[in-house]
Amino acid sequence: MKIGVLTSGGDAPGMNAAVRTVAVAGAVRGHHVTGIRRGYAGLLKGEASPLSLREVDGITRFGGTILGSTRSDEFATEEGQALAEEQIRNLGLDALVVIGGNGSLTGAHRLALRGVCRVIGVPASIDNDIGHTRFSIGVDTALNTIVEACDRISDTARAHRRAFLVEVMGRECGFLAMRAGIAADADAILHGEEGLSEDQLVSSLSGVLRKCFATERNKTRALIIKAEGVRVPTGRLAERLQAVLDAELPGVDLRVTVLGHVVRGGSPSALDRVIAQRLAFASVLACEAGADSVMVGWDPFFSPGRGTEDSSVRLIPLQDVLEETARLLDGSSPIVQKRVALLKQVNELLTF
Ligand code: F6P
Repeated sequence: MKIGVLTSGGDAPGMNAAVRTVAVAGAVRGHHVTGIRRGYAGLLKGEASPLSLREVDGITRFGGTILGSTRSDEFATEEGQALAEEQIRNLGLDALVVIGGNGSLTGAHRLALRGVCRVIGVPASIDNDIGHTRFSIGVDTALNTIVEACDRISDTARAHRRAFLVEVMGRECGFLAMRAGIAADADAILHGEEGLSEDQLVSSLSGVLRKCFATERNKTRALIIKAEGVRVPTGRLAERLQAVLDAELPGVDLRVTVLGHVVRGGSPSALDRVIAQRLAFASVLACEAGADSVMVGWDPFFSPGRGTEDSSVRLIPLQDVLEETARLLDGSSPIVQKRVALLKQVNELLTF
């Protein structure tokens, strides 16, 4: 078989491990593996070349993606997808492995509907906002990076008896904020799914700060983790909280750190490497088995689809994946409701 592989959307640590596994497993099993460069944008231009074992040697430890990645507006159009179909025919691909997040898997589904070749999705995004996979590639590394950054921030915060408001990536999903906040001993965690207004946030965080710096607690630092998905701008929230501190706890400063793309880079954790390798291996086996329009999901909760030889990997129809992803994003998935309830309990414990 001729298998194409591309990475698309926001890069995630572990993408290279997945690319290498597709290349190596493909070669070992007698397939030709073609690397498509720069995601769907590169596919539209036919930017593809054989992925040699030499090219993928030693890449597992690197963040980013050796294939390059893009968010392509052109591919999102009907004309773009028709051009992609033509390029896939020109390249003679029997199957295409798409490694990426929500937008990339939506693109994979559109291509699969055209029936041009088998299409297999591999979930990769630091946001953990993809349906029917407990983890997507990159999440574990991002969590470790956030926790390390917060530990460093806590050191300097304690030295000055300061409060810090730390914003973390995750788009609309508060998963990274919640997990990292717990692991970093935060005093409060905010995520957009809670839907609190600016005034509600200011009022509850003022309570947290009062408690932290009150004489009976007398903490030397306060750490608030804010998910990117919280609608209130971080700077404005910080200004309003500083005004409360100035009035009630003079001398206590609040500082802001937006971790941004720092969270997306870096060498992947062992867990991300292993998840990427197992999902990618399953994607090659799925191509051989004639699977089409499916995603390989990691240890999903109550999911449709079918199991594989790997007890942690399931093949789930892309249609189901995209529907559940939409529910995760609009908050109607039971998983989000569970997370919101859990966050309430967590915040109670953190601020006790
Ligand atoms: O989806 C991954 C992600 O890093 C999000 O957390 C973030 O909102 C977005 O991508 C940033 O995208 P860009 O790199 O295009 O600015």
